[in-house]
Amino acid sequence: MLNHYQNAGWTDHKPSVPPRDGRDGGPDGRGPIPPQPLATPGVSTAPYPAPRRCVRRRQNEPAAALRGRFHGIVVTNQRLCREHYRLTLHVAAFPPSDPGQFIQILCPRAPGAADPPNAVDDGALQVKQWRLGSRPPRFTDPFLTADRPYLRRPYSIAGRRDASTVTKAAGPRTELDIIYRVIGRATRQLEKLTPGDEVSLLGPLGHGFIRSDHLRRALLIGGGVGVPPILYLAERLASWGIAAVAFIGVQRADLLPLTLLADQPPATDYPVERPCLTEFARHGISSILTTDDGSLGIPGRVTTALRTYLLAHRQFDASSGVLELFCCGPTAMMRAVSHVAAEFSLPCQAALEQPMACGMGTCQSCVIKYRPPGAMDWVYKLTCTDGPVFHTADIIWS
Ligand SMILES: Cc1cc2nc3c(=O)[nH]c(=O)nc-3n(C[C@H](O)[C@H](O)[C@H](O)COP(=O)(O)OP(=O)(O)OC[C@H]3O[C@@H](n4cnc5c(N)ncnc54)[C@H](O)[C@@H]3O)c2cc1C
Ligand code: FES
Repeated sequence: MLNHYQNAGWTDHKPSVPPRDGRDGGPDGRGPIPPQPLATPGVSTAPYPAPRRCVRRRQNEPAAALRGRFHGIVVTNQRLCREHYRLTLHVAAFPPSDPGQFIQILCPRAPGAADPPNAVDDGALQVKQWRLGSRPPRFTDPFLTADRPYLRRPYSIAGRRDASTVTKAAGPRTELDIIYRVIGRATRQLEKLTPGDEVSLLGPLGHGFIRSDHLRRALLIGGGVGVPPILYLAERLASWGIAAVAFIGVQRADLLPLTLLADQPPATDYPVERPCLTEFARHGISSILTTDDGSLGIPGRVTTALRTYLLAHRQFDASSGVLELFCCGPTAMMRAVSHVAAEFSLPCQAALEQPMACGMGTCQSCVIKYRPPGAMDWVYKLTCTDGPVFHTADIIWS
């Protein structure tokens, strides 16, 4: 009998509303949804045309269905700042993935945590089977009352490197990066991983960012633990030759999970494009850094810097869809980015980080309210399988 850790052989969740494909102006054939700019007294958005529902395609569309359970072998688990670590996992034959997709990691148990009764251990992965006919676990069993993470935890893919220069026997190999912030039970166990340790992971899950055919310039906005998918997206945009500027906002200097270029201090008063963060600079991308407490870069919210920048750069886009915003971070930040996007009539995609349990459309714990383009009524969408990336104009932020 399989237990819920194994998650083997799941089927794809069918969304309640057909996903938009953008080819015909919406799934209901009623044409594209009109832009809904926020009324901001005294601010003209005239130079910005309305966002166009242009032809969009998901990258590696056929690959979206390719996913599975993998063994990840820890290559490095490196501290980046006070609470963030970069975990690099060696995975054999990991399917193609897109920026915005995520993996579900079964975080290791604390040393000494009890095994389930009558369990059959599946190697180092802590995947357990209960023998048929054996006593099922009870809520009083030490296994269930122990201080351990039971459910897998979702982490955005922060980057990957594929190596084809391996022996035929070994097959293709991938190095996957995740960046995690230590905040609770599971991440405290991740923190203890050392090179050579094994973890079980599911992925790649969800749908990533969508590339519009008109896209020429991207503004990437990452806040806190929302930085990882933005890094992966920056790498992908660079490979497509699309210009980008990164806006990174953190609470304080010691919570920045990125490295500053030694000779290029970040701007401190005005959002000036400078290659100040190494991880973006290596892709030729400038960055603008903000901290809530003013300890580094521009003091204040990243959305304030974004808005200041947009007000100063109205000349960028004469044709719609050329400039697009992509964001990930705390919900409040993404809601604020969504408002800025609406104010300037710019298309914007957000990778949501709704708390999740199963990550594959079964538990229904990750719903958001979503209004399909052109529709009057909203429906629930599952962040794990319908997202986590959505167009912000379609999300009902609550
Ligand atoms: C699609 C997706 C991608 C994610 N990517 C990353 C990533 O790249 N890096 C990273 O550090 N984290 C990421 N997260 C969040 C990450 O999954 C949680 O931080 C992690 O599960 C915490 O586990 P824990 O057991 O250490 O903490 P827990 O003990 O489970 O939680 C500690 C505290 O954090 C709160 N919390 C947990 N998860 C979330 C959440 N998603 N949103 C808001 N509050 C939460 C809990 O309510 C609790 O108060 C992602 C989440 C999703 C849904
Ligand atoms: S996390 Fe279970 S349905 Fe989305």
